[in-house]
Amino acid sequence: MRRAAALLALAPISLTALGCGSRAPDREPFPDGAAARVERTRTEPPLGTAVTWSVLKGDDELRALVPRAFASITPENDLKPDHVWRERDTYDFAAADALVDWAREQGLRVRGHTLVWHQQVPPWLSDGDWTPAELERMLTEYVRTVVGHFRGRIDTWDVVNEPFTDAGRLRTSRDAPWLGVLGPRYVALALRAARAADPRAKLFVNEIGAETGGPKLDALVRMVADLKRAGVPIDGVGLEAHLDAADPPSRARLEQTMRRLAAAGVAVEVTELDVAAHGASGERQAAVFGDVGAACAAVAACGRVTVWGVSDRDSWIGAGERPLAFDANLRAKLSWRALTGAVSRR
Ligand code: G3I
Repeated sequence: MRRAAALLALAPISLTALGCGSRAPDREPFPDGAAARVERTRTEPPLGTAVTWSVLKGDDELRALVPRAFASITPENDLKPDHVWRERDTYDFAAADALVDWAREQGLRVRGHTLVWHQQVPPWLSDGDWTPAELERMLTEYVRTVVGHFRGRIDTWDVVNEPFTDAGRLRTSRDAPWLGVLGPRYVALALRAARAADPRAKLFVNEIGAETGGPKLDALVRMVADLKRAGVPIDGVGLEAHLDAADPPSRARLEQTMRRLAAAGVAVEVTELDVAAHGASGERQAAVFGDVGAACAAVAACGRVTVWGVSDRDSWIGAGERPLAFDANLRAKLSWRALTGAVSRR
């Protein structure tokens, strides 16, 4: 087993100062110097976080904290189709470029999220009546344009996001024409176009709710095998891990899921970790963060853990659920300590 690679961990913080167990106030300004209480953290596997340029650009404390605490970022929304693909031949990379350039100036790697999804589809695409030939050309052109634009700056892409239902069937959608018009081959078309646009980028299929096993994980494993057999490029599977402190998967279950995907021949990442408190204590939530980190650290194929946001005040779930590792005042929680401690054990 490799030795712990955490270069620096948390600055000493008393447990009472960690703010666990009590509901964090909404939208309180970060206290001056909050970010400075977290020293530069580098772990193996590394940690990432999701950020949005419109929030980050106006928030000095957040911009100070992110490069200290994390090794990579994922744009939470700035790269999604409805943000980028404005019209059939019109792209808007302004926010994504600003965020990616900022990240690279800070020495942070960037995960690209996401190219093909059934949500956040531009209305002109949902509303169109496309022939298969036309839509195939559009999909290929779109993926090549976006991945090509960031070639060399984004090293990992969620090429296809959340393709399966809980029952393990490819997901149909009123908003996204991909499956309905192109059939299941849309997945291979997107992956091939991404590889052509940036041969060095790692290409992922990202999925929600697969970490607990079941038909969705079975379907993912089958998809990986089918794609590989057909010579379609796929490098990894992302496990989102939007978890619930009241009913979390066990560490053993998480490891089992990761090992199963690794055995199918792909890398694994935890891509969107958060843990809704649902009334659970800070200690209980921290145990879940610790289990996820420990599972990833125990499986060689698990290359990174990304938390879906920095502080409780900016989570998509809402501050009331306290789902992240820093509280609404940007103080590290027990969950941060548990996560960094667990991943540093590899
Ligand atoms: O950009 C508009 C803004 O102009 C407007 O003022 C505001 C008013 O509500 O809405 C803004 O858009 C919101 C966008 O986030 C940016 O804040 C959308 O309404 C909102 O739906 C959108 O939510 C995002 C959600 O994906 C969309 O489905 C969340 O921030 C984001 O965290 C979430 O992330 C997803 C992953 O991409 C995939 N996995 C699940 C995960 C959680 O749902």
